[in-house]
Amino acid sequence: MTIDNTLRPRIVATRTLPDTALARLRTVGDVWVSPHDRPLSPSELGRAVAGATAVVTMLSDRIDAAVLAAASSGLRIVANTAVGYDNLDVRAIARHGAVVTNTPGVLTDATADLTLALLLAGTRRVAEGDRLVRSGAAWTWDVSFMLGTGLQDKRLGVIGMGHIGRAVARRAAAFGMEIVNSSRRDSRPEALSLPVGLDELLETSDVVSVHCPLTSQTRHLIDAVALEHMKPSAFLINTARGAVVDEAALAQALSTGTIAGAGLDVYENEPDVHPGLRTLDNVVLAPHLGSATVGTRARMAELAADNVVAVLCGRDAITPVSVP
Ligand code: GLV
Ligand code: GLV
Repeated sequence: MTIDNTLRPRIVATRTLPDTALARLRTVGDVWVSPHDRPLSPSELGRAVAGATAVVTMLSDRIDAAVLAAASSGLRIVANTAVGYDNLDVRAIARHGAVVTNTPGVLTDATADLTLALLLAGTRRVAEGDRLVRSGAAWTWDVSFMLGTGLQDKRLGVIGMGHIGRAVARRAAAFGMEIVNSSRRDSRPEALSLPVGLDELLETSDVVSVHCPLTSQTRHLIDAVALEHMKPSAFLINTARGAVVDEAALAQALSTGTIAGAGLDVYENEPDVHPGLRTLDNVVLAPHLGSATVGTRARMAELAADNVVAVLCGRDAITPVSVP
C-alpha cells in the first residue's frame, strides 16, 4: 500500500471497479484499488480503510465497529456497490461521522429479470433438463416427459413490494399471473397487486418471491413454519438475501415435498451453499447474479462513485441510506 503524502483525499475501492467509475473517483482523490481478485479479509479491510476519506464497498465486505476502529476520523462516506446494505453497520458508521450510500434503482430491472429466469427455470425444469442432456442419459419426447408447471392464472406472492418487487410483479402479470403482496398497509397503493397478510400470501400463492431487505425482522422470515404454510405445489424464489430464508429448513422442505421447488440466487453464508440443496433436482441454484449484467454493474459502480464525488465535494449524497 502506498503512503499518500499529498492532501488529496484517499479513496479506497475494496475490489476493482469499471474504468468509468474509477475515472469519476480520480477527479476528487487518490484511488487505491485492492489488487486482490477476492474480498479483503477483515484485517486487510482495516488496513485499507486506515486514512481513507471514502470507501467503496462490495456486499461481501463487512464494515462493523471492529473495522471502523482502524478508520480515521476523516472517513466521510462508505459507498456500498449494492442496493442491500446488511453488510454495513449503518449505526456504527453514522457514529463515526460518515454517511452510507447504496445503489437503488439502477439494478431493479436486471434483478427482476433474473427473478423471472429462476422462476421459469424452476417451474419448467430447464436446469434439470440441461443436466439430463449433458449426462448423456437416454431420453425421448413423450406426452408425460419432464412436465413442469405453467404460470398462467397462477398466483405470485411478492414479499417486499419495493422497486424490485414491483418490477417482478409487472413481468409476472405479462405471464398471466395474479399477484398479491405482503407489504405493510401504509405502503404506497399498488395497482398490479393486492395486499394480503403474510400467512394468506404463503397459503394461497403458487410462487412466493422474496424481495425484502435482510434486517433483524426479516432474518429467517421463511422458516420451517412458513414453509409448512405453503402449498405442496408451490415454488419459492429468493433473489434478495439468503438469510431471509432458513436454508436448512428449505433443504428439508424441498427433499420431503413440503413445497415443490425453489430458485435461489442468494445464500445464508455466501459463497457456501447448504450441502442438502446441492444434491436436489427441484432447486435452481444461481451464484448471486441478480444485478450481473455489464450495463447494470457499470451503473452501480458509477452511482457509488457519484455518491463519493458528491460527499467529497460537500454536497448531499445522491442515494443515502437512512440511519435506523
Ligand atoms: C445485490 O445483491 C445488491 O444488493 O445489490
Ligand atoms: C431496487 O432498486 C430497490 O430499491 O428495491
